[in-house]
Amino acid sequence: MSYAYRVPFIDRGAELKVLEREYGASGFSLVVVYGRRRVGKTRLLREFINQHGGVYYVASELMYPQIVQEFSRAVYDSLGYLPRGRDLVEILEELAGLGSRTVVVIDEFQYVIEAEPSLPSRLQCSIDGVLKGVGSCMCFAALQYRFREEAPWVQGASLRKENRHH
Ligand SMILES: Nc1ncnc2c1ncn2[C@@H]1O[C@H](COP(=O)(O)OP(=O)(O)O)[C@@H](O)[C@H]1O
Ligand SMILES: [Mg+2]
Repeated sequence: MSYAYRVPFIDRGAELKVLEREYGASGFSLVVVYGRRRVGKTRLLREFINQHGGVYYVASELMYPQIVQEFSRAVYDSLGYLPRGRDLVEILEELAGLGSRTVVVIDEFQYVIEAEPSLPSRLQCSIDGVLKGVGSCMCFAALQYRFREEAPWVQGASLRKENRHH
């Protein structure tokens, strides 16, 4: 899906360069984008999807099975592929095995973790094991800044407002 914005996209050259570098690399890649509300996380990732295609999913405060159901639906709508897995990690493993470089954005990721607290550690396990070895997939998790302190597993780039003042 492509998004047309009235306000032109500005001043994220440095961030896009990092994302392009990851996109150009092989193997599985997880990029965590975090920052305060309204700092531009969603816009950055949607612009990236406009360029490369991929799945964009925004989580909300739902129970985990429903999040998985919605995510599967988003995958189907964008890729025409209906995942069989009933868990986000399983589905990412499926997508990583598809062959092409699939971009997957999970926005408001904090809601997914609230609904399924075991997810970060299971995702980490899968990255170290299965995902590292299979095909290629680039996954973005965008979450709000306050969560950074509560999530020591996050090693990603923060999106700061100051970056826009060049
Ligand atoms: N680089 C940018 N250039 C122009 N407008 C932007 C840019 N980044 C964000 N915006 C605009 O600012 C608003 C907030 O951005 P958004 O991506 O929703 O923030 P977040 O997801 O971090 O809460 C949106 O209206 C968005 O279109
Ligand atoms: Mg957002």
